[in-house]
Amino acid sequence: MTGTVKHIHWSHWKCPSNIALVKYWGKRDFQKPMNPSLSFVLRNAFTETSVELHKDGDQKVEFYFEGVASSFGERIEKYLSQISIHLPWINKYNFRIHSRNSFPHSAGIASSASSFGALALCLTELDFAISGKEADSPEFWQKASELARMGSGSACRSVYPGFSIWGKTHLFESASDEHAINLAGGIHPIFSGLRDAILLVDSGTKEVSSSVGHQLMDNHLYQHSRIAQAHQNLNELYLALLTGNQEKFVGVVENEALSLHAMMMTSNPSFILLKPASLEMISRIRRFRTKSKIPVCFTIDAGPNIHLLYFQENELDVKAFIERELLIFCENVKWIDDQIGAGPERIAK
Ligand code: DP6
Repeated sequence: MTGTVKHIHWSHWKCPSNIALVKYWGKRDFQKPMNPSLSFVLRNAFTETSVELHKDGDQKVEFYFEGVASSFGERIEKYLSQISIHLPWINKYNFRIHSRNSFPHSAGIASSASSFGALALCLTELDFAISGKEADSPEFWQKASELARMGSGSACRSVYPGFSIWGKTHLFESASDEHAINLAGGIHPIFSGLRDAILLVDSGTKEVSSSVGHQLMDNHLYQHSRIAQAHQNLNELYLALLTGNQEKFVGVVENEALSLHAMMMTSNPSFILLKPASLEMISRIRRFRTKSKIPVCFTIDAGPNIHLLYFQENELDVKAFIERELLIFCENVKWIDDQIGAGPERIAK
């Protein structure tokens, strides 16, 4: 038994996962991207994390995932030590962290984005409380995004509502490799009804971890072309978002997903992460789009699972298509129904 626990500081946040439309693939320096990326946050897939600072005992980090002590605590301890140069108070406290996901571990949803997003939001709130700074300022969200990035690159895009861009681009002077920026204004209203049907092909462990995957870009023969392509796709996608150009949106999104996989197939070592079921779904999605003229498309991360993107106005037709033609290719004949979300939420005590 330790002595009386004094909860010196406490913070609790819910943070969504995000799905990239222009993909982050390849790093420079410490968690900086080789190219800019653009994503949107999901609504139903999130992580909820609480952090208590205390001075009891000598265990630096106690980490409980869904109530059970977890070895992920070791990764968090390493992360805290890396960021302590930015938040020196980290060295003075021990951490008791509880975390849970709204989605199953094997759901094909990037949990590192929502996990590090939620943790970074807690740490930023604690930092602002300790240093007496005003919490709901642009600086707060920027700091949260920067700290999230240091845990997992894609996490920096999870701390904002709707669409975000991470990485320098000519489109915005405020865009940065250090943190993401939110695309708040000017997005065409059609995109507020953006839907994501997550079609799980294989929930097995990842064949290639994202950190190994990013390294494949270091000496990739196509590195320069890929960086140029990501900039061009970002410009075109942003224009499509502003003007509501669904045809352009569909074209760029699929080009990005397949380019990411093309990079993996042509790297050394090479990886083919798409499965026969992924390819069959891709071909059915394209056939459905041609026949029905409904703007649907797919995006894919570094795995075999397909994210089918569509618009609210086509919900009934697309859901019928999923049930009729795609469900048979999904693991356990299940899919996850998600959509663009409103961003993180602070949870009061
Ligand atoms: C394919 O953010 O998981 O999902 O920075 O090493 O944690 P680390 O990588 P991570 O990479 C995500 C790559 C991607 C594309 C994307 O989300 O932009």
